[in-house]
Amino acid sequence: MTRVPQRGPAPHLTRVAHSVATTERERQNGHLGGVLWLTGLSGSGKSTLAFALEAELFARGYQVYVLDGDNIRHGLNADLGFTQKDRTENIRRVGEVAALFADAGFVCISAFISPYHADRDVARSAAKGRFHEVYLDADVETCEQRDPKGLYRKARAGKIPDFTGVSAPYEIPSSPDLVIPTGKKDVGASLALAVSYVVANFGLP
Ligand code: ADX
Repeated sequence: MTRVPQRGPAPHLTRVAHSVATTERERQNGHLGGVLWLTGLSGSGKSTLAFALEAELFARGYQVYVLDGDNIRHGLNADLGFTQKDRTENIRRVGEVAALFADAGFVCISAFISPYHADRDVARSAAKGRFHEVYLDADVETCEQRDPKGLYRKARAGKIPDFTGVSAPYEIPSSPDLVIPTGKKDVGASLALAVSYVVANFGLP
């Protein structure tokens, strides 16, 4: 069966309004909803920081949930690989899901390499002003030295095609809302920066 990619909603569709507004959910939660979009190379610490931040915010009473690349690719996006086209579709779908979490009043932390500017911009527009781009700054040399999953070694040996930073590009964000130098800082220091950012930017007006 040939899959025809859809370019927009099918005809004869009408949006239906929710009976509970996002602002009401936010008032009940005591904080704003939004997307904290972590981007960076494989091994830059996205998952580690995302789950540490989730635990810390949850302990502080936040409604918070992590969308993580490796996890989502086991389910929702199990049909996608790592060509540019598949990564674009990966980020498009995840951007939509993250936006739904933000609408539901959650702090949604996403942890995807998301190597392309254009794809991150699509995720940003899905979240309609509730999007915070966080660049985890760790260069290829550092990530490759850490190589927590042994993937850089396999990629250098030619066993993983299109590997980000080795045989596929990573476009560094040009104006991220927050940069966390995970190549230089340990998890605790990186977590402290992320928590301060959330406290400063997700409070009710
Ligand atoms: S993205 O580029 O589409 O945003 P995503 O974050 O979902 O990538 O998945 C990245 C994870 O998939 C990496 O952490 C790594 O464990 C695994 N992986 C497998 N193949 C590749 C590859 N070719 N390039 C990068 N990561 C890969």
